[in-house]
Parts: sequence; C-alpha cells; structure tokens
Amino acid sequence: MNIFITGANRGIGLEFVKQYTSRGEYVLAGCRDPEKAKKLRRLLQTNHIISLDLADSNSISESVTIVKQHITHLHLFINNAGIMGKRGNPKSINQEDMLDTYSVNAVGPVILTKQLKSLMVSGAKVVNISSLMGSIEDNESGGYYAYRMSKAALNMASKNLYLELRKKGIIVLALHPGWVRTDMGGIVAPLSVKKSVSSMINVIDDAKSHQSGQFLRHDGEVLPW
Ligand SMILES: NC(=O)c1ccc[n+]([C@@H]2O[C@H](COP(=O)([O-])OP(=O)(O)OC[C@H]3O[C@@H](n4cnc5c(N)ncnc54)[C@H](OP(=O)(O)O)[C@@H]3O)[C@@H](O)[C@H]2O)c1
Repeated sequence: MNIFITGANRGIGLEFVKQYTSRGEYVLAGCRDPEKAKKLRRLLQTNHIISLDLADSNSISESVTIVKQHITHLHLFINNAGIMGKRGNPKSINQEDMLDTYSVNAVGPVILTKQLKSLMVSGAKVVNISSLMGSIEDNESGGYYAYRMSKAALNMASKNLYLELRKKGIIVLALHPGWVRTDMGGIVAPLSVKKSVSSMINVIDDAKSHQSGQFLRHDGEVLPW
C-alpha cells in the first residue's frame, strides 16, 4: 500500500509512519523541515521525506510534484498535520492566529487532497485527522476559538470531499484520535500515541464505503458533527 502522511516528524504523524513502515507499507512523509526531522530519518530513506508547509500553496504544489515522482497510485492519504492556535482565554484571540490555524488545519488539507486526487483510484482512502473539539454538538465548554472553528471546517471539508470523491470510489473519514500524549495533547492526556494510532489504523483498515463521510473516534465509534 502506498501511503502519504502529513505532519510526520513528531506526535501522531510520526507514530503512523512507525506503525505503517513496521508492517512493510510504502510510506512518503511530509514535514516542514526534513533536515531537522531526525526521528523520521531513522524510519525512512531521505528522499521519501518531503518538504511540506500546509500554510504555503507553493509548498503544497511542490510536494505533490515530488509525490508523483515516487508513485503512480496513492492508496491512503492521511491529513494529520495540525496546530492548536492560541489556547483557552477568549481574550487572547487575534485575527492572524485564527487565519493561520484555519490555513493549516482546514484550507491546506483540502487543497492538498484535491491535488492528489488524480493519484487515487477506487478503494483509496483519505483520512482527515480531526478533533472532537471541532464538534458543534459536543461543545459544552467553549474557548479554543481558532482550533474549534478550524476543525469544524475540516469536518465540513471531509463531508464535501466524501461527496466529491465517492464518484471515484474513494473513502473519506474524519477521525478523532482521542486525547493523546503528544506536544499538542500534553503529558496529562490519557491515551498513548501508540494506542491511539494502532486503534486508528484498525479503523482505517476496516473502513468500508458505507462508512465514508462519517466522523469517527479512534476506536470506530460514530461521533456527532
Ligand atoms: N494530541 C491530541 O490530543 C489530539 C486530539 C485531537 C486531535 N489531534 C489532531 O491530531 C493531529 C496531530 O496532532 P499531534 O498531537 O501529533 O500534534 P503535534 O505533536 O503538535 O504535531 C503536529 C504536527 O503538525 C505539523 N505541522 C504544524 N504546522 C504545520 C504546517 N504549517 N505545515 C505542515 N505541517 C505542520 C508539525 O510539524 P512541525 O514540527 O514542523 O511543527 C507536527 O509534525 C493534529 O491534526 C491535531 O489537531 C490531536
């Protein structure tokens, strides 16, 4: 299986690379600074690590050109990269931070997916790593404007991509990884990155076309939009 994963130099993205390479999959990994991606370089040959900044449309196009030099078919694309934006206090929100967060978490993944579309054939899967914090129905504590709004937008993008890509037989999922111990999730998060990712890999492996367009937790439970 040919797989492309964004935000692959640390956290959940790095763990996806670890687990997929350990079972022998062909993995291409996107990250902002391949030179500094030491952990990733221990897992992949250097030319499989592709420079990608989701906030930069030229970088997105250039990464697609490189992906196409390596593969003619993409079986699984994981839009994993994401940023939190300013946390908590609603007084701390500002336009620049909100637009940056929207750009990386919602706009970049859509543009990249659409540019990769020609590589995907029937049965291919697109996985958008979303968050329960993007669920409107689940939101009872507020705050985190930039992050919540960007992930709600990513959820809408997932539904739209499902409607567009189902004509080609491509499955699209929005997946919530759980609250995971990474730089973003922090050390008090209950779920290890290993457990979250192995759980998501099971869901991705088992995903059938009737589940396409759904918002799922890492263990496959359907979540409210
Ligand atoms: N951890 C959790 O509890 C949790 C919960 C729900 C959802 N999620 C989602 O899971 C995904 C992975 O999160 P994580 O916990 O692994 O976070 P993380 O440890 O902070 O890693 C984030 C990754 O995104 C990359 N990234 C940031 N800005 C980027 C940009 N402009 N272009 C390309 N890549 C960029 C980072 O690269 P750099 O090293 O270059 O910054 C890094 O590889 C995110 O989408 C996040 O929203 C996480």
